[in-house]
Amino acid sequence: MHAEIVVLPGDGIGPEVTAAAVEVLRAVGYRYRHNFALHEHTIGGAAIDACGEPLPEKTLAACRYADAVLLGAVGGPKWSDPRAKTRPEQGLLALRKALGLYANLRPVRPHPATLGAAPIKPHLLSGVDLLVVRELTGGIYFGDKTRDADSASDTCRYSAAEVERVVRRACALARQRRGHVTSVDKANVLETSRLWREVATRVARDEFPDIVLEHQLVDSMAMHLLAKPRAFDVIVTENMFGDILTDEASMLAGSMGLLPSASLGDGGIGLYEPIHGSAPDIAGRGSANPCGAILSVALLLRYSLGLEMEANCVEQAVSATLDDGVMSADLTPHRPSSTKQVTAAVLERIAADCHVAELRD
Ligand code: NAD
Ligand code: IPM
Ligand code: MN
Repeated sequence: MHAEIVVLPGDGIGPEVTAAAVEVLRAVGYRYRHNFALHEHTIGGAAIDACGEPLPEKTLAACRYADAVLLGAVGGPKWSDPRAKTRPEQGLLALRKALGLYANLRPVRPHPATLGAAPIKPHLLSGVDLLVVRELTGGIYFGDKTRDADSASDTCRYSAAEVERVVRRACALARQRRGHVTSVDKANVLETSRLWREVATRVARDEFPDIVLEHQLVDSMAMHLLAKPRAFDVIVTENMFGDILTDEASMLAGSMGLLPSASLGDGGIGLYEPIHGSAPDIAGRGSANPCGAILSVALLLRYSLGLEMEANCVEQAVSATLDDGVMSADLTPHRPSSTKQVTAAVLERIAADCHVAELRD
């Protein structure tokens, strides 16, 4: 197959983990004889430095033309002055909005080898398999903002249609899993949440009678997620709740550095990025965990290119790497491997594991 893939390394550890993900993509292309044409462009702080804006027209045009976009992370202290007129994060938000990527899939599946790295008791973690579906182009992130000398406001707004499409996506995904959806809101306080709950109930009742839908308030959900993570299957929620709950959920897996994401709309194009940020505290040291970015490649192969066998191959290679104890410093204080060493181990296993997969098929 031929695919056009835009690569947006961004800032901080973004370029470090993206380099790893690109190597993995190349290895999969080589192994399975796919032609992945990679095009690198700027976004975020790097783009502000290069041309004064966080999402240059050229970058957006390339993304619109592509089959998929692979992104590292944006942001950092250099561009974080609260009075700055433009911020790296605006570039990422504008990209998600421009491509209509309203459903952000964030799978969380703790690996047996990293149970010890998680601050949660291991017996609560085995068998946890969550898929958070975060609404990505609405809510308080995109509502009107105001600011004067001594007051500020952010407006949270949702239309029924925006809620409907993301809940529909979550229910459809649940159908391929354990058929259970937990919709998370703050319906005891927020009007947008009352609309959310109403629409979610209607979509599930009318279109997914086979799915069990439950509602949960976001504050107690933050607690249940740690206390009984096995109780959940698909979790669907609005933009900001999803942002916060998934950073929390990353602690079930043991590190922010492990979690991938896929941002999808109604078209074929998807944006794939680890859920973590630019990690300024460790940037430039070559120590970042590349697994979130590498696992985002697996999601790219699966959701944008329909290459399920290749996606499984990448996931198995990461899994085997962790099984063998090859881990970065966020997962093990004991003789950690560098970003490059973890990546090399994954690449080695891609070659070996894919060979086995080919023989089996
Ligand atoms: P962060 O995710 O960058 O870092 C949080 C903590 O997790 C840090 O201690 C960091 O070292 C660690 N960490 C994150 N990724 C890691 C990895 N791959 N390997 C090892 N450790 C890792 O969050 P933050 O510090 O709150 O934000 C820093 C900047 O990143 C901000 O400018 C923020 O806006 C931006 N950000 C960008 C994205 C994105 O581009 N998608 C996501 C989140 C935050
Ligand atoms: C994420 C990030 C972004 C978000 C920021 C950088 C705009 O935290 O992808 O999780 O809040 O969506
Ligand atoms: Mn986030």
